[in-house]
Amino acid sequence: MGRMTHVLTALAWPYANGPRHIGHVAGFGVPADVFARYMRMRGHDVLMVSGTDEHGTPILVQADAEGLTAVEAAAKYNRIIVEDLDALGLSYDLFTRTTTGNHYKTVQELFTTLYDNGYILQKKTMGAISPSTGRTLPDRYIEGTCPHCGFGSARGDQCDNCGRQLDPTDLIDPKSRINGETPKFVEEDHFFLDLPAFADALHSWLDTRTGWRTNVVRFTKNLLDDLQPRPISRDLDWGVPIPLPGWVDRPDKRLYVWFDAVIGYLSASIEWARRSGDAEAWKQWWADPEAVSYYFMGKDNIVFHSEIWPAMLLGNNGEGSKGGEPGSLGKLELPTEVVSSEFLTMEGKQFSSSRRVVIYVRDFLERYSADALRYYICAAGPENQDSDFTWAEFLRRNNDELVAGWGNLVNRSVAMAAKNFGGIPEAGELEPVDAELLETTRAAFDTVGDLIGSNKVRAAIGETMKTVAAANKYLADTAPWKMKEDPKRQATVLHTVLQAVSDLKTIMSPFLPHSSQQVYELLGGEGVFAPMPRIEEVEDLDDGGATDGVYPILTGDYSNVPKWESVPVTAGTPLEKPTPIFTKLEPSIVEEEIERLNS
Ligand code: MF3
Ligand code: ZN
Repeated sequence: MGRMTHVLTALAWPYANGPRHIGHVAGFGVPADVFARYMRMRGHDVLMVSGTDEHGTPILVQADAEGLTAVEAAAKYNRIIVEDLDALGLSYDLFTRTTTGNHYKTVQELFTTLYDNGYILQKKTMGAISPSTGRTLPDRYIEGTCPHCGFGSARGDQCDNCGRQLDPTDLIDPKSRINGETPKFVEEDHFFLDLPAFADALHSWLDTRTGWRTNVVRFTKNLLDDLQPRPISRDLDWGVPIPLPGWVDRPDKRLYVWFDAVIGYLSASIEWARRSGDAEAWKQWWADPEAVSYYFMGKDNIVFHSEIWPAMLLGNNGEGSKGGEPGSLGKLELPTEVVSSEFLTMEGKQFSSSRRVVIYVRDFLERYSADALRYYICAAGPENQDSDFTWAEFLRRNNDELVAGWGNLVNRSVAMAAKNFGGIPEAGELEPVDAELLETTRAAFDTVGDLIGSNKVRAAIGETMKTVAAANKYLADTAPWKMKEDPKRQATVLHTVLQAVSDLKTIMSPFLPHSSQQVYELLGGEGVFAPMPRIEEVEDLDDGGATDGVYPILTGDYSNVPKWESVPVTAGTPLEKPTPIFTKLEPSIVEEEIERLNS
């Protein structure tokens, strides 16, 4: 990607069935933000979109449990999630919802094109009815044993224990949650996405992909070797209505939540464009073969992004075995890369809201800073293998690396320069040791940048911290605090280290935007350095959805980001005694937090 490119950064849509825990933002929320921020600094035109996933059984079950309607429950958790992602500084161009009128319209549009092109099959399949009433038994009211993991209370569409997607007929010993009776399965019409019709096209597409993580490639190859028609309608009263005569008004049939959710990437891009005042602007990321798109998610989501969504896009384009014509949205580009993370465990256990092994983003940020969490995630997140979050490791990384490494470098350099010179001093002639440090930090732009660009965030922040260590070593070796007798040399050393700090705050800013902004200001900068998202209350653009008409979005102005390059500091810029940018934590937090987790 040499010249300016349009970069779609697409993040999996969190279910609006509860607050999000740190596993969610560790797998892909923060890594995707690092990527998007970096790409903007390289001059690319980034569109970062997502939203809450608000249909399907998980939301209905939660609403039932709280005595809320689905609309109320979705709105409640949408707002909480929006606030949490905002607090973490995730720089979405648009974070929206799947209940907007615009989303419903887009989903129905895509369904219609797929249908017209012959890629949606209507087939008889087994649906559950209640023997005592004779009425359809919605998926969420069917419970049974998971055929994969043996979990006793798996639901009709998903197992909460192993996370696998299920059909009600998969359940062992299914029971109605309403009255305990065994449902009767009868033949009903349902809609299927004709995945086998895309086998050849999907294989050729996958063959042209480069740079994917091996887990995703391997997993996807296996999927493509066994393609079956996939049901995309459900026995539900909550979801996008099926836009066909005789179906659209039926209260008991809706499109399957996954069918509508993946279309969110497209509908959110369209919504963003409509709100930006140029309703066609989304096409720059979707219709241009030169544009690139990166999809970020946890590993349980791979199938939807590397098989189903590409198949839907091919069908829209008329590029499956049945041919066809692109619909009214035109031809749409398939994903460039599907970036999947592994799972984050918590003190050795799998995160689980139902078993309360969980740390919510909100609780975390009430006690610790966003950048402390972001640092931990970047340095130790589940990028290529499952990783374990422990409070002891959080404490160690915060105190020994963030505070004693980066924080201390900033603090010492700015404090010394402020005290001795009242500002950034002029450099005299550079000695080799000075030139070497400046060369090291300058070189880090390339090394770290390439790593972020290929989504190796752990290695990228590791390289950054090596450069921080080099600057700390430079201070220890030159010892400018002992140079009272030689103010000229002292000025040169402090100028040099402040240049390194300035470069490092630029390199740090995709990972730690909040503190980079602070360092920028400590060095005398004014205005925005690392832009932050904001929450805006907006009106639904269209009727027909399931919002209350007004909802919060995350958006932001990221057009003036600094360039990914070294900028010379200006001698004479006044500096003040700095306040520390990070907080050292007491070792006692480890026990406190573990206790909280167990209570
Ligand atoms: N809500 C799903 C989950 O949490 C992710 C949906 S991603 C989308 O697993 F692309 F389909 F939206
Ligand atoms: Zn299971």
